[in-house]
Amino acid sequence: MDISTALRTRRMTRAFLADPVAAELVDELVDLARKAPSAGNTQGTEFLVLDTVDLVAAYWAITLPEASRTAFPWPDLLHAPVLCLPLVDPAAYVSRYSEQDKARTGLGESEASWAVPYWFVDGGMVVQNLLLVTHEAGLGALFFGLFDNERAVLDHFGVPTNLRALGTVAIGYASPQQRASKSQHRQHKPLEQLLHRGAYAERHQRQPPIS
Ligand SMILES: Cc1cc2nc3c(=O)[nH]c(=O)nc-3n(C[C@H](O)[C@H](O)[C@H](O)COP(=O)(O)O)c2cc1C
Repeated sequence: MDISTALRTRRMTRAFLADPVAAELVDELVDLARKAPSAGNTQGTEFLVLDTVDLVAAYWAITLPEASRTAFPWPDLLHAPVLCLPLVDPAAYVSRYSEQDKARTGLGESEASWAVPYWFVDGGMVVQNLLLVTHEAGLGALFFGLFDNERAVLDHFGVPTNLRALGTVAIGYASPQQRASKSQHRQHKPLEQLLHRGAYAERHQRQPPIS
């Protein structure tokens, strides 16, 4: 699958079959995904992979306790056999930018010096790579938020406190019965609403004058 086709056809999957995904394939997908650009080549994105029934169940026990499940709109999301949590390490960026070739940026001082936290930018690039290679491999995937559960999940799986989880990528074979989210129904915006060539022009300024 070429990149343009992958970009045009990838959609989030919210219902999975319980069929397992080979560990070697997951490793291959993660290995491809991490070949992303990163600020200062810090390569500060890591992955917590949960790929056994018990590990996946432990994750859901924290983030979606039994009592909340009947009202959960995507019950077949819980069948995804693999959950991959992209982890980013802000301290790795501060450390990298305190090296000699980056010291002039001042970004080696502290996390607070970063106007744009590049650890999240880099992590987003890795996640998109993961979604695309997963799609190319004929699998489905959903990136979704951890919200208030981030630290509880990370603590449970022994992730050090300096790491942040961007969210979770559920990976598996897509069920033929998909239910789209409300967000997913939204159409792509017209390009002219997003593309500002030369200067930022409000949409109403682009209308031809009324004669
Ligand atoms: C940063 C981010 C957070 C998201 N969080 C959720 C989420 O918590 N739950 C969910 O079902 N989908 C989540 N999504 C998926 C979006 O709803 C989805 O990408 C969007 O509706 C477009 O659909 P598509 O990816 O299928 O084209 C998230 C996507 C991104 C990029």
